[in-house]
This record gives sequence, C-alpha cells and structure tokens, in this order.
Amino acid sequence: MAGVDRRVRISHLLKSAQIGQQVEVTGWVKTSRFSKNVSFVHVMDGSTPNTLQVVIRPELVEAFQHRLGVGAAVRITGTLVPSPGAEQPFEVAAETIVIVGDSDPSTYPMQKKATSLEFLRTVNHLRPRSNTHQAVFRARNALAWQIHRFFQERGFLWIHTPILTGADAEGAGELFPISNAVDFFGHPAFLTVSGQLEVECFAQSHTDVYTFGPTFRAENSNTPRHAAEFWMIEPEMAFADLDDVIALTEDFIREVALATMDQCADDFAFFGKRIAPGHPEQVRQVVSKPFARITYTEAQELLAKSGRTFEFPIGWGTSMQAEHERYLAEEVFQGPVFVTNYPWEQKAFYMRLDEDGKTVAATDLLVPRIGEVVGGSQREERADVLEQQILRRGMHMDHLQWYLDLRRFGTTPHGGFGLGFERMLMWLTGVANIRDVIAFPRVPGASF
Ligand code: 4AD
Repeated sequence: MAGVDRRVRISHLLKSAQIGQQVEVTGWVKTSRFSKNVSFVHVMDGSTPNTLQVVIRPELVEAFQHRLGVGAAVRITGTLVPSPGAEQPFEVAAETIVIVGDSDPSTYPMQKKATSLEFLRTVNHLRPRSNTHQAVFRARNALAWQIHRFFQERGFLWIHTPILTGADAEGAGELFPISNAVDFFGHPAFLTVSGQLEVECFAQSHTDVYTFGPTFRAENSNTPRHAAEFWMIEPEMAFADLDDVIALTEDFIREVALATMDQCADDFAFFGKRIAPGHPEQVRQVVSKPFARITYTEAQELLAKSGRTFEFPIGWGTSMQAEHERYLAEEVFQGPVFVTNYPWEQKAFYMRLDEDGKTVAATDLLVPRIGEVVGGSQREERADVLEQQILRRGMHMDHLQWYLDLRRFGTTPHGGFGLGFERMLMWLTGVANIRDVIAFPRVPGASF
C-alpha cells in the first residue's frame, strides 16, 4: 500500500505516530472484545509491554469475529485516531484485516487463567507470548547488550572460547562428556564449564579480554539457581591483582544494572509491580552505593555471631552455602558484599595462594535473594606454586602443560571473574527461578 510504513513495530508507533496517519500493524491478538456498540482487539508484537488497541467496525466484526480470538496472527491496516479511553492516547480504526495465522481460542494453551509460571514451564514453546516472558526476554537482551557495551567501551576484546574442550577448568568434575570424543579426537572431551583457562591465553597477549557464552555443568543440584546450561561472562586482565578484579566487578555490576533498568524502564516497572513488588527499585538503590568487602574469616565470625541456626555447618573451613550467603547479603550488609580469601581447599587450583599458605586470593560477590552471582580471583602466576597446587589436588599435570607455559613465558599477575548471566537477570528482575529466565531451561528432568 502506498503511503503506509510496512512492518512498523508497535513500540515505534506508540512513540512517534501522528493522528490521522495510515498504519499497517502485524502481531498477535492478546485480547478481544466484541459487543453491539464497540468491538476491539489488542495486538502485541513483543517490541513493548504495551498492546495496540484496534477498533473494529461492525462489517469487519461480522466477517472476522470468529477468527480474531487470542493467539491469532494478524495484519491490520487503518488510521490512527484519538482514543476515548484513558489507557492510550490513540487507537487504530481498522480498515482491512488479514488473518495471517488462525488460533483456536478453545484449545490455545495460553489462556489467561492458566498462566502461572509453573504452568508456563510446560509450554516453553508458547510462553514467550506471556506478559512475564515478554518482559524477561527483553530484559535479557538488554542485559547482554549492556554487558558487551561495558567491556567494548573499556577496550576489552571479546574472545570466543571453545565449547568443546579437554580442560576441566574448575576441577570440580561436573562435566558433560562428549560420547564419541575418543574416537573422533583421540582423547576425552567435554562441554566447557568455563572459558577462563582459554581466555587467560588472550589476557597474556591482548591484556584485557572477556568471554561471553554458554557454559555447562552436570551438577545435579535441583535448586532455583542452578541450570545445566547457563551463560557466563568472564573478563580477564593481565597486570592485575585481586583489588583490580574487585574494582572492575563493582563498576561492572553497577553500570550494567543501571543501564539495563534504564533501557527497559517499562519492563522493570512491570517486574516491580507484578513479579517482586518494589524489588527493582531496591536493586537500583543498593547498586548505587559502595559495595561491602569482608574476608572469608570475617564472614565466618559474622555467621557465628548471628545467633542463627543454619541448616549447614558454619565455622572456619566449612563451605559457605546459599543460606549463609543470603544472610550476609540480606541481613548484615543489605546489599552486595564481596567475600575474599577463602581456604584453598574450597577453591579451584588456579587461584593465587596467599602468603599464609592457607587461603587464596579469591572473591565471591554475594547479593540479596540470590547469594553468589560472581566468582573471581587473582590467578597463580608462579609456575612452581601452580604446579604444587595441581599436584596437591591429585590433578593430571600432562593436560595442563600449556596452561603452565603461560607462567613460563612472560607470566604476569592477572585475574578476572565469572558472572552467572541468569543469576544477574534473576537478581535485577526479581524472578525467583532460573527456569523462568532461560528460553529452554536445561535442568535435571527437563524435556527437550
Ligand atoms: O564461581 P564459578 O564456578 O567461577 C568460574 O567458573 C570461574 N572460571 C570464573 C572466573 O574467574 N573466570 O562460576 C561463576 C558464576 C557463579 O558465581 C554463578 O553466578 C554462575 O557462574 N554459576 C551458575 N549459574 C547457573 N547455574 C549453575 N549451575 C551455575 N554454576 C555457576
């Protein structure tokens, strides 16, 4: 049609349309109402939390009423007219309607009444159309974009580390093996648990780098915070110590959180109303202040002083569980807190041994509602100490000769962190279960 912008997104129309303008809208019917006096449908297209109200005149109602139920894909042309309703400044007076894809409302699973998050997990293929998932996946997109922007503006290079790998980066044994790897490569291979070891090679050549990609862990923890497939962001800096890592983490979390909330202001208003009342505003406040910092030893003292009965043991040498992390972040510090210098036995082989020989230059960032969102460290840059750390864990040195080479040829103090992308998204939005922020969650028992 001459004079009509084709495929205009609803977000664009709502911002820039002029009364009297001819428009063509494509999308899916969210709700419809037909009555003697006035009939209309609300159309959504995923570009905004708002729907576009389309008024349908009686002849068109007669022709299309039975095909304009919830879920139908439509192409509608019409004129923008002022809306008598208070919810929107204008609406579209439909002139032509094309039903692009029918949807039978009597069998469509996304009926209004049946849209609890639990129910929606049973229809992963259709739930992107729910209000919650519409907002979550716009926020997820914005978070990814802001993360790249943060690093790109600071000159960090994005390195694409491999997904198939022979290295157990975390030494935790939570690996998904590739079943035909020995036949194919001549040695075992796995889905990566972290791109860190590989990205360290690039920190030792390009100084400031990061990975951002999918990560796989075969830990059978059926919790709201664990998935078998999740995304991780791992910056790595040469000529950097633990203080540099902590400073980068704090700047990163603050800037990315605020920029994501600004980019998706309408969606965060929705989360703050419907998902976790007041929560995004609290996140905005706590990230705007300096983050707290304590050692693991101080954390254990605070837990001991708490007078709480925890399910898991506390005391120096015990491993901190989500309940301990949440107590510190929610009740003691009421905001993000870095915990540093954990006992070496609890942490990965590559972390730098502290002078006392008991702890390593590690840090976890704990936040309210979630617990750990970031795990990072200064790496062991001394070849001899690193060898000892590998040996005392009973790990195979042969597979790590290339990693030791980085310490043999131009080693530098260096470090970085790993942010769990979905955990950050859960924290910002207030969505309580990781299954609801991943398009097709891979968790124990998931259907494929
Ligand atoms: O603490 P982790 O295991 O650290 C690493 O993998 C390091 N290589 C990072 C680095 O220093 N470059 O994992 C980092 C983060 C955790 O803090 C958590 O947010 C997230 O990854 N994470 C998970 N998220 C969802 N599901 C799981 N199963 C996760 N395991 C870790």
